[in-house]
Amino acid sequence: MAKKVLIDCDVGVDDALALILAFHSPELDVKAVTGVNGNVPLDMVFPNIQKVLSLIKPKNKPLIARGADRPLKGTTIHAHSVHGKTGLGDAIIDLKEGEEWWQKYSGPADELILDLADQYPNELTLIAVGPLTNLALALKKDPEGMKKLKELVIMGGSVRTRGNVTPYAEFNIFSDPMAAQIVFNSGIPITLVPLDATHQAFLTPQRMEEEIIPIRNPFSDFLIKATGYDMEAHRFKNRRSIFLHDPLAVGVAINTTFVKIERLSLHVDTNEDEYYGRITEKGDGPKIDVCLEVDSERFLELFVSRLKFCG
Ligand code: BDR
Ligand code: CA
Repeated sequence: MAKKVLIDCDVGVDDALALILAFHSPELDVKAVTGVNGNVPLDMVFPNIQKVLSLIKPKNKPLIARGADRPLKGTTIHAHSVHGKTGLGDAIIDLKEGEEWWQKYSGPADELILDLADQYPNELTLIAVGPLTNLALALKKDPEGMKKLKELVIMGGSVRTRGNVTPYAEFNIFSDPMAAQIVFNSGIPITLVPLDATHQAFLTPQRMEEEIIPIRNPFSDFLIKATGYDMEAHRFKNRRSIFLHDPLAVGVAINTTFVKIERLSLHVDTNEDEYYGRITEKGDGPKIDVCLEVDSERFLELFVSRLKFCG
């Protein structure tokens, strides 16, 4: 039976690729997609979710909801330099009037999370690939209700490796460390997919040329444009490779054998100093399953094969 999932995201190029992977995977039954402020402001994230769904055209029309437009505390940061002006890189998707591949939930994201957890007790996996604000808001509202979730799979943090926003902190955790601390202490089973793992899963120009470009379908076209791959120069315009951070979290929800997991006690730094948003291993911290190594070839094989899927 397919795993029931809710995806909380801040679309985002790799978030969009994660959604494509999830909806194209028969192992998952995506019930809902919620948006949170992150890579781009929420007012861009929410239309981006709709745009990506109109590319995917999921027959089950998942529920969608807007979430937090700012972190619990502190100022908001965005990552336009990585995800472009709109959050979808150079890809342009026009929404067609009257064509809706989603159902709009009447309340905010935290309510939808609690509602679905209640509807599917101990069955729902929440895959969080943005800042953890929506999850923290739901936990503040109803911690017991959140315990009805089966598990959380979270892309975030750098445990034994450098951060990507500061030398110590990764974007999703740095964006809302207070939220991360609340989520880590929730008692819900967590699998963390940090940079330690996602930096092992990336697309190279060679893979683009040999495996992605020949697919020639709307999903490979989207990937080429969103990542800014220059077909003439055979390279990504702004970087050497593209990390598949968020797709790897979906990959782990599909099949944990892609990764090597260690159970670690973790702590999130919330003091506003140079270590803000850092994750450290601490004896008395909550126990979390952390992905540290990836069988990248097997994961990339899955990612590419699911890009070929056409309904
Ligand atoms: C994470 O930050 C975002 O920019 C990506 O979408 C991913 O979720 C990687 O640090
Ligand atoms: Ca993301």
